[in-house]
Order: sequence, then structure tokens, then C-alpha cells
Amino acid sequence: MDEQDLIEDIEEEAHDNLPEAFRGEYPIVVEGLVNQFGDFRIHDDLDLKVKRGEILGVVGGSGTGKSVLMRSIIGLQTPRAGEIHVLGRDVAKAQDDDDIDIRSRWGVLFQGGALFSTLTVGENVEVPLKQFYPELDDTLRKEIARYKVLLSGLPEEAISKFPSELSGGMKKRAGLARALALDPQLLFLDEPTAGLDPIGAAKFDRLTRELTDTMGLTVFLITHDLDTLHAICDRVAVLADKQVIAVGTIPELIATDHPWIEEYFNGPRGRAATAGHAGSNPGEQAE
Ligand SMILES: Nc1ncnc2c1ncn2[C@@H]1O[C@H](COP(=O)(O)OP(=O)(O)OP(=O)(O)O)[C@@H](O)[C@H]1O
Ligand SMILES: [Mg+2]
Repeated sequence: MDEQDLIEDIEEEAHDNLPEAFRGEYPIVVEGLVNQFGDFRIHDDLDLKVKRGEILGVVGGSGTGKSVLMRSIIGLQTPRAGEIHVLGRDVAKAQDDDDIDIRSRWGVLFQGGALFSTLTVGENVEVPLKQFYPELDDTLRKEIARYKVLLSGLPEEAISKFPSELSGGMKKRAGLARALALDPQLLFLDEPTAGLDPIGAAKFDRLTRELTDTMGLTVFLITHDLDTLHAICDRVAVLADKQVIAVGTIPELIATDHPWIEEYFNGPRGRAATAGHAGSNPGEQAE
């Protein structure tokens, strides 16, 4: 059996028990979200809808609550008020639902990478597989993990390395491999290109776009990287004043005349990024 047949077999087997893919227009819907720590309100009546198949960039000043918003959507942060539906299900209620575990339908790359330091890259990718598919036999599980590591652009030899033996860029790719372990429909990326050199960051961007298009993912991508926003994001959501104050393409956002948005996209860095991507669009970047 050649490698391609094996991969197809693995994919088929891994898909056997999966629920139907979500076909609605908005796989993520946040309404009236309120988050508060002590007296400090982070989100106040925040609304956001993410479209199926898009890469939504999420921007906002440091501390505006981008990571907290992501944690709320994936059920790690219980909001004070509001409703969050992911793939048509109420996230708060889905926690107790044994029927279909929606946590297996998304992959997450956390801001710090969050790899298990005592496990190799391959073993890290096996963690979610063990958690959600304990019945998979060892050989198959390792083969799926290997495939995801290679898919994330790491070389074969990275599979047996520990996180401490990897560069920052390789760690991000290993985190991505783990996020892709379960063939998710949704991918959450928190600052995936932070700390990467510009070439490494651009490569990571291209990989994200390619995977999104080939795997039919919907991506929630928190970033401060203006190049990433221009190169691969279909729309951008801006967090400020405890809410999502605008969502749209970059030209649409600039047209809103909001002072923070104006400063962000038309400041010196914003202008350089715009010039660098003039005439391109996210779809073309994927080629
Ligand atoms: N578990 C927590 N307990 C108390 N406060 C918290 C907690 N998590 C986050 N915060 C606070 O909520 C605010 C928003 O944090 P968050 O991490 O979402 O910011 P961010 O927009 O992701 O910033 P950055 O761009 O720096 O990553 C911050 O003021 C932070 O200190
Ligand atoms: Mg953050």
C-alpha cells in the first residue's frame, strides 16, 4: 500500500464517527457577550458572527480581550451574560452533551504554543486523538499524528523531537499540527506569527490559507501582524471599547473613519503593509 492509500484509509476511518459538517452560514455566533473579572469589564454586549469558510482576522489593542473572546467561544471562559453558538450549538450547554462533543470539531493554537514539554511533537499531536478516539489502535494513531506533522510543514525528523529542541517557528507548526489532529471544521489561532521572522511568518500565513481552502476550515485568527491581515484574512474584526466596533474587509474598515482603525491601518506600519499588498487579495495569495 503506498502512502497516499494509507492516508486515505486513515482519513476514512477517522471520519467514520464524525457528526455531519455544519452547513449554516455562520459557524460562530456571539451575541450580547459580557465578560468581567472583579469590577473590570472586558466585554460589554459584544456581538460577532464568523462566516463559514472565511479567515476572520481579530485585531485590537493589547488587553482589549481578544484572547478572552477566543476562550469564551471555545468554552474555557464562562461569560457573565450573552449567548455563544458554535456549529449551531450553544457552547455553554454543549459542555454536558455526551451526544456530539463539539470540542472535537475545533482546533486551537494558543498564544504561547502550549505544547506539553515532556512529550515529543508526535506525542503532542496524539493527545487529542487519544482523548476523543481512545479506540484507535497505536499504529493508526501514530500514523495520523505523523501525517498532521508533515501537513504542518515540519520535516519527518521533527516528529520525535521535544518542544525544547525546536525553534519558535517549528513550535508554532507543531502547535498547528496538534490543532489539526482531529480534522477540525474550525481553527482558532492566537497570534500565530508573533515572534517569527518575516519570511517564516509569510510562510506560516500561506500554510494557513492553503489549509483553510483545502480543508474547508473557518478560521478565527487573532493577530497584530498587519501583513497577515492583508495577505490572508477575508475580513477583519476590530475589538475596542469592550465591543467589536467594526467587521469588514480592510478597505471597508478604513472607510468607517474610526480614529483607532484609521491610526491602525493608516499609521506608518499600516501604510507599509498596504503598499506591500497593493493589488493582491487573500484568494490570490493562496496560489
Ligand atoms: N483569568 C483572568 N483573570 C483576570 N483577568 C484576566 C484573566 N484573563 C484575562 N484577564 C484580563 O482581561 C483583559 C483582556 O485580556 P486578553 O488576554 O484577552 O487580552 P488580549 O486582547 O488578548 O491582549 P494581547 O494582545 O496582549 O494578547 C486583560 O486586562 C487581562 O489582564
Ligand atoms: Mg491575547
